[in-house]
Amino acid sequence: MINAWISDTAQAEEAQFRSLDEASLPPGEVRIKVLYSCLNYKDALALTHTAPIARTYPMVHGIDAVGQVIESQSDLWPVGTLCQVNDWGLGETHWGGLSEQVRVPANWVSPLPEGRSARWAAALGTAGYTAALCVMALLDHPVRPGDGPVLVTGVSGGVGSVSCLLLKHLGYEVVGLTGSIDATGAPVSESAAAHFARLGLASTHLIHRDSLSRPGKPLQKEQFAAVVDSVGSHTLANACAQTQYGGVVAACGLAQGMDFSASVAPFILRGITLRGINCVYRSHEERARAWGMLAEALGEYDLDFMIKEVRLPQALDSARLVLSNQLQGRVVVNCA
Ligand SMILES: NC(=O)c1ccc[n+]([C@@H]2O[C@H](COP(=O)([O-])OP(=O)(O)OC[C@H]3O[C@@H](n4cnc5c(N)ncnc54)[C@H](OP(=O)(O)O)[C@@H]3O)[C@@H](O)[C@H]2O)c1
Repeated sequence: MINAWISDTAQAEEAQFRSLDEASLPPGEVRIKVLYSCLNYKDALALTHTAPIARTYPMVHGIDAVGQVIESQSDLWPVGTLCQVNDWGLGETHWGGLSEQVRVPANWVSPLPEGRSARWAAALGTAGYTAALCVMALLDHPVRPGDGPVLVTGVSGGVGSVSCLLLKHLGYEVVGLTGSIDATGAPVSESAAAHFARLGLASTHLIHRDSLSRPGKPLQKEQFAAVVDSVGSHTLANACAQTQYGGVVAACGLAQGMDFSASVAPFILRGITLRGINCVYRSHEERARAWGMLAEALGEYDLDFMIKEVRLPQALDSARLVLSNQLQGRVVVNCA
């Protein structure tokens, strides 16, 4: 028997933590003992049934799994190999990683970067890998460090924090948009202060999220060479309106909302590019590039300041904290 977070129906109030027969795991060539998973925003929505993330039921939640192969019909992934699975429908259409085991098709499995642990990979998880995809979009546009500051929204969160760390490593000036400062610009808590200090964001490089969260003018003062946005809604529209001529906005999230009431002005008068980022079905080449960039920029212990580690049964409690915006950084879930 294995323990997992599962929802039997969409109508249930929230997910349940319970034992399942291993034989009920979905088909796949590789069975993995999950060492670590993590709590992405999407996992928090799924566990609390705040949004319909699961597309079929019953569904085991968790969009990331990092662990060790314990049974395999694939020469590529022999028993004992450390590996990870990010997305591919985990927790949506295929039983996911908030579980002691997963069974998946062999072509969903990726290696860990050399010299990096399962805990490091889970600390990044989908949020970190998506941050890398956003930064890749800026690099490919291209936006260079000398072109001007890059706005990163939701900079306390997983995507935002890792985007900031990657961009800083590459020499960009970063401005963080956040709800974790007060009207005077001071961090709202000691943990927020420590978090921004570790991201290298002084108060002069932090903007309160309220300044972009309401409907704004179609074109505003050009401030940013590029934007990494995990917030959506009016924030994304205002970020586009403040992007300088020829710049790029990588949009991956909806923490404020899924709506996007914008004007075409930034696109047709300033030639800016809006790049949608989806991490779920990316090629192995893109995944390898993203994880290579993460390993290059972030050493084994560089993420420790932003990790909160919990045991598997605590995942739902942590999901509530994620949704009530009471955490900075990343929740790593120890499933061993
Ligand atoms: N497209 C993809 O493939 C993909 C992949 C991964 C994630 N995502 C999406 O990206 C977003 C961020 O994911 P995550 O895992 O980084 O989440 P997270 O760790 O919970 O971070 C979200 C951050 O957004 C900010 N925020 C929260 N509520 C807000 C609001 N009402 N208005 C403005 N900002 C708000 C908060 O930062 P501050 O306190 O600093 O404001 C929060 O820490 C989510 O919408 C997620 O679904 C998409």
